[in-house]
Amino acid sequence: LRIAVTTAGGDAPGMNACLRAIVRNACYRSLEVLGIEEGYMGLIEDRMKPMNLRSVGGIINRGGTLLRTRRCEEIKTPEGLEKAAKTIRERKLDGLIVIGGDGSFRGGWDIYRKTGICVVGIPASIDNDIAGTETTIGFDTAVNTALQAIDKIRDTAFSHERIFIVQVMGRERGFLALEVGLVCGAEIILIPEIKYSLDKIVKRLEEGRRTGKRSFITVIAEAAGDPYAIASQIGSATKNEVRVTTLGYIQRGGAPTSTSIHLASLFGHLAVERFISKKSTVMLGFERGKIVTHPLDYPMKHEKKIDKDIYELAQILSS
Ligand code: F6P
Repeated sequence: LRIAVTTAGGDAPGMNACLRAIVRNACYRSLEVLGIEEGYMGLIEDRMKPMNLRSVGGIINRGGTLLRTRRCEEIKTPEGLEKAAKTIRERKLDGLIVIGGDGSFRGGWDIYRKTGICVVGIPASIDNDIAGTETTIGFDTAVNTALQAIDKIRDTAFSHERIFIVQVMGRERGFLALEVGLVCGAEIILIPEIKYSLDKIVKRLEEGRRTGKRSFITVIAEAAGDPYAIASQIGSATKNEVRVTTLGYIQRGGAPTSTSIHLASLFGHLAVERFISKKSTVMLGFERGKIVTHPLDYPMKHEKKIDKDIYELAQILSS
């Protein structure tokens, strides 16, 4: 049996550990495994190379992706899909494993419907916005990267008694901001899923000052508004100095945490097992401490919900 693996969409720390697990388990199970370069673009252009035990050596702790990745618009077109199908036929592939986000699963689903090939999707994204899994490869690393950065910012916030607004990634959703906000003890968390008003923010800041707080951190998701506009509104309303820091792409890079590597290794191993035993087109997920499977189109039919209890908890604990 011959399978191919690719990393698609935005890179996430732990993708390499996952690739390693797939290739090593495929070798253990005597499967032939090919690595497709640059996501679906490499499939369309038939750019892939045979992988063996040694080709994934020394990558378990490396961020980014050895196979490289790309956001591919062409796979959404009938022509692109046809080219991908041609590669699959000519290469005589029996299975495809896609490590990526829900956009990549959509591409995988279209490929499955066009060709009938078994596709297994492994959730990897710093945004953790994929329905069907409580967490994704790379999320824990991004949370920890942001946490380390905010801990440093807190020193200045305290010393100067300043208000800081720290913008984190997350695309249209607030999962990353909520988790980062909880674990860094942010006084205010702004996410697109929960409405906020300037009045409420100002009240919270004033209450904090009244009870002796010396630093304020606001964590804002990139989809929750313009941090500079919010900073100037808070500054005028409270007569305080407000500074903005955008964490940006440092959240996507760097060595994966042990939690991201662990998850990546479990997912990678299981994707190959799943292919051998069931040959069905699924996504893997992690729910209530266990690896689960859902149909690959699950994230297209369900929306992942923000945990409002965690939001409330973060508010109480940072008062
Ligand atoms: O999906 C990961 C992510 O980093 C998002 O948080 C962000 O909105 C987006 O990718 C940035 O996309 P690009 O890599 O195309 O600039």
